[in-house]
This record gives sequence, C-alpha cells and structure tokens, in this order.
Amino acid sequence: MASLRIGVIGTGSISELHLNAYSANPSASLVAVCDINGQRASDVAAKYGAGKIYTDYREMLADPNIDAVSVCTWNNTHAPISIAALDAGKHVLVEKPLCRTVEEALAIEQAVRRSSKLLQVGFVRRYDPNVAMLRRFIDDGEFGKLYFAKASTIRRLGNPGGWFSDTERSGGGPLIDIGVHIIDLCWYLMGRPKATTVSANTYRQLGNRAHIENLSFYKAADYDASKNTVEDLANAIIRFENGASLMVDVSFTLHAKKDESVVRLYGDKGGFEIDPEIAIVTEKHNTILNIEPQTDYSRLNIQAAFQNEIDHFVRCALTGETPISPVEDGVAIMRILRSIYESAEKGEEIKL
Ligand SMILES: NC(=O)c1ccc[n+]([C@@H]2O[C@H](COP(=O)([O-])OP(=O)(O)OC[C@H]3O[C@@H](n4cnc5c(N)ncnc54)[C@H](O)[C@@H]3O)[C@@H](O)[C@H]2O)c1
Repeated sequence: MASLRIGVIGTGSISELHLNAYSANPSASLVAVCDINGQRASDVAAKYGAGKIYTDYREMLADPNIDAVSVCTWNNTHAPISIAALDAGKHVLVEKPLCRTVEEALAIEQAVRRSSKLLQVGFVRRYDPNVAMLRRFIDDGEFGKLYFAKASTIRRLGNPGGWFSDTERSGGGPLIDIGVHIIDLCWYLMGRPKATTVSANTYRQLGNRAHIENLSFYKAADYDASKNTVEDLANAIIRFENGASLMVDVSFTLHAKKDESVVRLYGDKGGFEIDPEIAIVTEKHNTILNIEPQTDYSRLNIQAAFQNEIDHFVRCALTGETPISPVEDGVAIMRILRSIYESAEKGEEIKL
C-alpha cells in the first residue's frame, strides 16, 4: 500500500497518542507538525522525526507533500482548521468534539461534501477492542433491542484548566469534553437512533477547586486556573425516536468519594457493561448468567483504541473506505450536546 503523508496540527497532550500510533503504522509517514507554540512544535518534531515545523496551519496546508492531517487543537479551532484542510484537499482526522456548535458542525459537513475528502471524527471509544468485540454480539442480536443506557464519568477533581475551562475556546465543560465520549459510545452501540427530546441540568457550584492539594489530575498543556467559565456538572436524559433512552451524568469536580466511570446498556435479551469493566448479562434455561468475557484488557485500553483509530483513518484515506465515525455522526452528537446545554439554560425539555 502507498504511504499516507501526515501532518499533525496541535502538539499538546493528546497529540502524543496520535504520533505514537502513526509511528507504529507502516502505511503512514509523519511529514510535519504545527503548533502556535513554536518551541512545543520543535520538541515534538525532534522526538518523532518530523522534517517540517509550522506555527501557522495555513502554511502547513499549502504543502503539497501532505495528504492528511490530525487536528489536535483547542475545540474553537476544529471547524476553521478542518474546513481549511478539506478545502486544501487533505483528509482530516479531527479530535472530539467535532467542534463547539451545530452551526460549525454543519459548515464542516458541507466542506466534506464539496471536497470529496474524508473526515473522521476522533470518537476514540468506538475503536477500543472491547467495543469492537461487543459490537459483534450486538449485531448478532445477542442483547435484542437496546432500550436503556446509563453513562457516567464522574471526576471528583479534574478540571484541566487553560482553554478547557474557557467556554469561548472549549464550547463547554465536562459535557462537551468527557460527556461526548460516553454519549457517543452509547448512541453508536444503540444503533444511532434519532434523538427526539432532551431534559438536562448543568451546575456551576464548586468552581475549579484549584486550591485542592495532594491529588493530581489531567491538565491542559498551558494549564491556567485563573479563568473558569464552564459548568462543573451536567446531567441529562435523552429520549430517542425508537423509544430508547439514555441517562448521563458527568463532572469536572464533585464532592464524590472517588472517580467513577459507568457505561451500561440494557436490551430485551441481555445487557452489557463497558465501564468500569466489560461484562455481559443474559439468561439461559431460566437462569440469569453474569458473563466475564476473556479479553486482554477488561477496561478501556486507550493505547490500543488510538492505534485502531489511526490505523482505520490511514486505511480509509488510502482506500476510499468510509470511516466508522463519519462527519454525520459528529453533527448528530453535536445536536445532542447543544440541546443538553439549551435544556439546562431554559430549565425545560427540548424537542430536537
Ligand atoms: N480523544 C481523547 O480521549 C482526548 C483526550 C484529550 C483531549 N482530546 C481533544 O484533543 C484536543 C486537544 O486537547 P489537548 O488535551 O491536547 O490540549 P492541549 O492544550 O494540551 O494541546 C492543544 C495544543 O494545540 C495548540 N493550538 C491551539 N490552537 C492552535 C492553532 N490554531 N494552530 C496550531 N496549534 C494550536 C496549543 O498551542 C496546544 O499545544 C481537544 O479537542 C480535546 O478535546 C481528546
């Protein structure tokens, strides 16, 4: 297979997982990196052997020796960079969330259509090996109709600061940052049903709690606790056209005893859990069975998930295959996320 020539835009925290995965893919070659922080870009270029360094993404996109880009920048730049990249004839892998608003999402979708290049949304949880394994059970009808899902990512202390907590650059707090992962995961596994109503609440009660000592947490590359305009907790119930529903809650901080991740889906023939650990529940011969699938990792394997995501992107770009997380799904998830914020703001149920 020919080699796909890659540029990575944004060389902060998450770019490392993209860069490691491209390095391990024999059909990809890293050509260039770009960051508004030139020193950071230079350090990453040296570490991963990128021949070219840019501080302006437009200059990188003008380079004819680049076929595809990973967009690993702040959320407010996902739309302009993705659209410019598509218009420059590059394939795009854009980190989650697709962008900040439905308007931005629709503009990206239009750019995909006019460019005929592919855009893959970095819904990395879809690419976890356990999710691929469970997908086979779902597709085979093992769980019947999935009618209820429960998803929760509770951080007791974990506001990453910097741009993450500046709503102008992030588009929101834990909902758009970590809630996006579990909402997408459930929605994808439920068969992507159309959302019809959303009822939600967001809270800004605790601030970022930057005063807390003795506990470390994930921080943006440019950590700064001085600005915090995002929610610290969001909860929502989402109803779908097929009658199924999803309950979700997520926090950057909460007076919880410990961090907690829950992803559980229930069907009329069986159920399964992904977080905190994979499990299958079913019944046979009038007996309930709790099954422990035997896989290499019973929990999310983030390295493997990123490797699969990048391998999939490289293959789709080289073969013209459609990615399993296309732009349309990014748009649908953005509609749900914005409806959650709208419902919380208005204090009423939103019809989509
Ligand atoms: N898939 C996941 O599990 C996961 C995890 C963390 C972050 N993310 C996503 O990845 C993206 C980046 O997050 P992060 O944690 O790496 O943030 P970060 O702050 O550590 O890094 C972002 C980098 O982008 C650079 N940047 C900003 N605007 C730019 C521009 N216009 N041109 C070039 N560079 C620019 C910054 O200088 C910084 O180095 C976000 O969209 C975030 O939601 C995804």
